[in-house]
Amino acid sequence: MSITKESELIGMKEISEVVGTTLRLMKEYAKVGMSTKELDEYGGSLLKGYGAKSAPFETYGFPGYSCISVNEEAAHGIPSKKKILKEGDLINIDVSAELNGFWSDNGGSFVLGKDIHNHQPLVDASKNILHKAISSIKGGVKIADIGHLIETQAKKSGFKVIKNLAGHGVGRSLHEKPENILNYRVRSNRERFRKNTTVAVETFISTKSTIALELNDGWTLVGNKGGFVTQHEQTIVITDGKPIILTESNGMWN
Ligand code: CO
Ligand code: CO
Repeated sequence: MSITKESELIGMKEISEVVGTTLRLMKEYAKVGMSTKELDEYGGSLLKGYGAKSAPFETYGFPGYSCISVNEEAAHGIPSKKKILKEGDLINIDVSAELNGFWSDNGGSFVLGKDIHNHQPLVDASKNILHKAISSIKGGVKIADIGHLIETQAKKSGFKVIKNLAGHGVGRSLHEKPENILNYRVRSNRERFRKNTTVAVETFISTKSTIALELNDGWTLVGNKGGFVTQHEQTIVITDGKPIILTESNGMWN
């Protein structure tokens, strides 16, 4: 959305603080032996406490309040009583919600407990690449150039990017224009980031796969060639200089 008045900025700050804090607290709450359903219900109760509505649950009919993707699941993992978290699991939590007509989106991957499967380099690459990408965004920058930056940095770190998942505009709904802030460059895309707009920028960094495929449950995405995928996502306001990171309460870079 385009921010045209103070009240809109305040509205975006409020919901962003809610989804950011919810993500941080869920990450802290995750423990070995816990089901992803239990973790999701904790997140759902936090959102409710803030008076916010889960975007996937309310808008998309998703069977959970947040998307929790474990190990080979790339995104949109369904919280389940049967999925029990284990030491060294690669977990992604994505929290998006609405409050007073404003929407915000954020997510992050992390390793649970000891990194016995050596996922941390992938997690760190994703986090650092998102930081680099966001630091390079200002009004007038081409969306395709940020895609190029993300893909180049992923390659430099020895990883690939998922090509059919993307960041997006956010604000008055969960997904708005620009619809495809991709992790690679589409040369024909001349679209530019616009000052005073809010967007959700997200990385999809992968060890083997380049395409995310949907499983038969109608939600869960996995890589077309297996391996692992990490995602980090922040909702930002674009300015003339460094963006304002609205969801920084998630503590991603602390
Ligand atoms: Co998200
Ligand atoms: Co998003």
